[in-house]
Amino acid sequence: MLRKPLLLAARSQTCRTIVERTPVTRAMVKRFVAGSTQDEALPVVGELTRDRHVTLDFLGEDTTDTAQAEATVTAYRDLLAALGEAGLAERAEVSVKLSAVGQFLDSDGEKIALDNARRIAEAAKAVGTTMTLDMEDHTTTDSTLGILRELRQDFPFVGAVLQAYLRRTEADCRDLSGAGSRVRLCKGAYDEPESVAFRDKAEVDKAYVRALRVLMEGEGYPMVATHDPRMIAIAGSLAAANGRGEDGFEYQMLYGIRDAEQVRLAAEGNRMRVYVPYGDEWYGYYMRRLAERPANVLFLARSLVTR
Ligand code: FDA
Repeated sequence: MLRKPLLLAARSQTCRTIVERTPVTRAMVKRFVAGSTQDEALPVVGELTRDRHVTLDFLGEDTTDTAQAEATVTAYRDLLAALGEAGLAERAEVSVKLSAVGQFLDSDGEKIALDNARRIAEAAKAVGTTMTLDMEDHTTTDSTLGILRELRQDFPFVGAVLQAYLRRTEADCRDLSGAGSRVRLCKGAYDEPESVAFRDKAEVDKAYVRALRVLMEGEGYPMVATHDPRMIAIAGSLAAANGRGEDGFEYQMLYGIRDAEQVRLAAEGNRMRVYVPYGDEWYGYYMRRLAERPANVLFLARSLVTR
């Protein structure tokens, strides 16, 4: 019931101003965001990479300003150099939203996003790590997969995210299940119309399993991005049935969610990667986390009332 209004609010400037000014929100954001700057995020990466792997997201999306897109590229390149210097690049990669590096710019947005993503991929290659393109709402899917194809010609290590709730995803999984391909499969976090997406939770879960099966049976590298215990158990069974060991797939979860389960999966010998966002542009990311779990909203509401 709360999901739709929260996802609408995620794109409202007025709501953004209100939420960002509420002191208690800032305290709650800390649960999901590893800091405001690279210097604050790096110690978190150091700690997590003792037993897990990491993918770092410099927060930002829907950029309509060339200078901001450029600043995002610089932030990623600086981050990758710092990961290399700190000896963390073996266990830490980056995740990039194309809308943060120019995809929505008025003229030539797609070309600018491709060029900018290329510059980030070069920096990733220089320190020997990988990069994954996040997936945003369905209006961007074709553009993002087109840019992925271009990038992979020079940087085959660039991975994609596919969202199980989209009706097209099983077919996209088939296209991207070849050797060398890296696909992060998630359920999907945006408010999508019935015409393009399953909206019922049970249907989304079934679609997730179908897509996962395609990836596990393929020749690529599946990245199982979910906190759902049922999906995690099914992924383990499918991996075993397809002869995939520790190097053949990985689990992924978001920073601040089900930490004990992350530790357990890693301790059992699985590769476990944590998606770690940092930066000041946390609003859209934070609202999507609230929308995923009503209890998070109730917690926020209670804090506001008892303040
Ligand atoms: P589900 O929503 O069914 O949750 C299962 C259980 O996990 C819940 O019962 C609860 O215990 C816990 N949980 C889930 N969300 C929680 C939250 N916010 N707070 C507290 N507990 C929570 N989406 C997208 O559209 N594009 C993308 O690029 C990405 N990228 C991405 C990367 C990684 C590594 C992950 C793990 C997820 C994404 N997502 C994403 C988000 C994804 O689409 C989805 O919205 C969330 O992962 C929640 O779905 P679950 O699979 O966890 O299942």
